[in-house]
Amino acid sequence: MAGAGARMGLLAVLAGGAAAAAGAAAGVATGRRGARDRPGGLAGAVGRTPLVELPSLSRATGRQIWAKCEHLNATNSVKDRAALGMLRAAEAAGRLGGEGGARGVVEATGGNTGIALAQHCAARGYDVTIVVPSNVSTEKIDQMRTFGAEVVLAPGGVPFADPRHYFPTAQRLAGERGLVFLNQFDNDANFRAHFEGTGPEIWQQMEGKVDAFVAAAGTGGTFAGVSSFLKERREAVRCVLADCPGSGLKAYVETGEFRGSGEGTLQEGIGIGRLTQNFAKAKADAAVFVSDAEALAMAFHLLRHEGLFVGPSAALNVAAAVKAARDLPEGAAVVTVLCDAGERYARKVYTKRWRAREEAAAARRGADDALAFLAPPSGGVGEG
Ligand SMILES: Cc1ncc(COP(=O)(O)O)c(C=O)c1O
Repeated sequence: MAGAGARMGLLAVLAGGAAAAAGAAAGVATGRRGARDRPGGLAGAVGRTPLVELPSLSRATGRQIWAKCEHLNATNSVKDRAALGMLRAAEAAGRLGGEGGARGVVEATGGNTGIALAQHCAARGYDVTIVVPSNVSTEKIDQMRTFGAEVVLAPGGVPFADPRHYFPTAQRLAGERGLVFLNQFDNDANFRAHFEGTGPEIWQQMEGKVDAFVAAAGTGGTFAGVSSFLKERREAVRCVLADCPGSGLKAYVETGEFRGSGEGTLQEGIGIGRLTQNFAKAKADAAVFVSDAEALAMAFHLLRHEGLFVGPSAALNVAAAVKAARDLPEGAAVVTVLCDAGERYARKVYTKRWRAREEAAAARRGADDALAFLAPPSGGVGEG
């Protein structure tokens, strides 16, 4: 494995390449509204995130556990890449901004795409309406509104076919208002942001020494884009889908059929009950399940042993990486993704009330042996 110096050098090269790409894109489309990709603008701070090893977990597993710090993106989540990619694609197609394009966008999102769009639309001069399911944390909704987004709440837990679901609601609002419906679930620009960005960054930062990639899917953009890129480089890279309670994705990967239990989960933004066009491009070798209790135990482990304050899907990804490491030879390198930061869930997850609830649930169900070394979480960040 390369030393930190070599890695820093590579990061500098990546940063230079991305700056050149942003420069080339600047001014491609001239807009009535929107600043587009001005050098030095917010868009210049998307991607090129650090990749760190998690030493406590590497020690516990005898494998290398690495995490791509997507919570350090410009808008503090992995969805920065998809949001910017979709805006640029709509601009390039003449659908957004410019003389004939729409004045803004509508999106259906579990939250992080909404925050990323709210910030990038503020920087580019577009109106933005975000439709979220009602289980989204108030921290995320507050943040979208802070940047001027209109937030529409749709009922949580209703089936996709229900017109009140957040996806058809967003589609309808876009039509009524003459705005662009970005549709991150099926928009190829989401896949490409990871195929052309996250995947190559991981490959270069690991200097090609990647044995496995493990991540959950919400739209499938991250998992599909990164797994497709890594497998193009080296077919033997094992790509493992991480799944949460209620989702049908693990069953889909294993049997080709979606069979979700529909049960509730503390997770936001991950788990799918239908095949999105983005997930259809995924290259999954296997899938692992992570319960809410396991994800929460990992979230607290990362706080206390790695100094990382990340959201529940990031903790789930790391727990899944540890589980997937069992099937790999000693010393193998497993890479996963820290999707967003813990602050977005401070009142929802990192509280004593949540900890007590999840500890009780863990005791009822029993934990997977792969995570037996995780101490029960002690103490919350906030009160609850
Ligand atoms: C918190 C969180 N984690 C993970 C993901 C999954 O990312 P993707 O949509 O690329 O599958 C999302 C997507 O919205 C998310 O909000």
